[in-house]
Amino acid sequence: MIKSYGIPVEKSSLALAQLFEPIRADLEKVDLEFGRHVQSQVDLIPKIGRYIQSSGGKRIRPAVLLMAARLTGYRGDRAILYAAVVEFIHTATLVHDDIIDDAELRRGKLAVHSRWGNDITVLLGDYLYIKSMALALTHDSLDLVRVLCDVTLKMIEGELYQLTKNGDADITEDEHLDIIRRKTAYLFGGCAQIGGMLGGVTGEREQALREYGFNLGIAFQLVDDLLDFTGNAEAVGKPIGSDLCEGKITLPIIHLLRQASDGAASRIVRDAIASRAITPESWNELVRHLKEHASIDFAARRAADYAERAKKHLYAFPPSSEREALLALPDYVLSRDR
Ligand code: IPE
Ligand code: IPE
Ligand code: MG
Ligand code: MG
Repeated sequence: MIKSYGIPVEKSSLALAQLFEPIRADLEKVDLEFGRHVQSQVDLIPKIGRYIQSSGGKRIRPAVLLMAARLTGYRGDRAILYAAVVEFIHTATLVHDDIIDDAELRRGKLAVHSRWGNDITVLLGDYLYIKSMALALTHDSLDLVRVLCDVTLKMIEGELYQLTKNGDADITEDEHLDIIRRKTAYLFGGCAQIGGMLGGVTGEREQALREYGFNLGIAFQLVDDLLDFTGNAEAVGKPIGSDLCEGKITLPIIHLLRQASDGAASRIVRDAIASRAITPESWNELVRHLKEHASIDFAARRAADYAERAKKHLYAFPPSSEREALLALPDYVLSRDR
């Protein structure tokens, strides 16, 4: 099966494993570190921790951090710790996000709140957030903790801003991009930046890495939103069309409404966000409109632009196998199916 943006999808998991091959051992250590730090005498914490950890997840943020650290010549153990920290932050975000979005499934399994309820899940998310910062303080590197606090605050702002725009079919592309930058891109930027900070790079290179991660993160979220239209539910791990039924207007719809603001397409969108549901017939019609107006292609092109921007920032570094690996990641992000 070939996607409209041109890359065979079933290769995407394999591609990720290949991309991460140079850091496979480190990623295994990150998982051990993650498991170690959800130990607690309160049984629920390791129990839910194991549930989350074994449910899959691409580990893309820890991988960016580890690969950026390698690129900058860092070979110590601290990269493992900070990689676990960013996965803690990401995980906390997901468990809270699924409550907010009322999303029943995550990674093809019941979301934590669907299984344990909101009370426990809120507290577990809080635990993971604070744990992440406590872990980040292990080496007293306040500069790294500051980056982590900054990007996590941006992410929460992004989630809040998104809520204020929920169900608003008049959201603009700029407003939508502002949400994406905050909720996803800053954390990706922080991952790459921290890799560079561990390697002790110059300010200019640290900035280049941050920009790399930031633009990669925008592409990543744009593709996440695209997969909600073009993906396969089994691969994505949750039903297709969830965003619209959650009241989230993403770039393909923003483009479509711009092209056809008062017609049948607009009615379908407004009905879906009002009723928080869509019939298969209306969904198929919506997809036809998206095709007719090339709205999927429009969003895919935007994602590809950000992926290209990400790569450009890596040219601040001399050629190396590490740079090649980081250069390949934006292409993976564009082709991913999960
Ligand atoms: C999901 O992130 C949330 C978004 C920013 C789109 P991932 O797609 O990285 O989630 P996992 O960890 O692989 O499940
Ligand atoms: C991603 O947003 C969550 C954050 C980055 C905070 P989404 O709501 O689009 O993520 P999914 O689709 O639930 O994974
Ligand atoms: Mg969500
Ligand atoms: Mg999504």
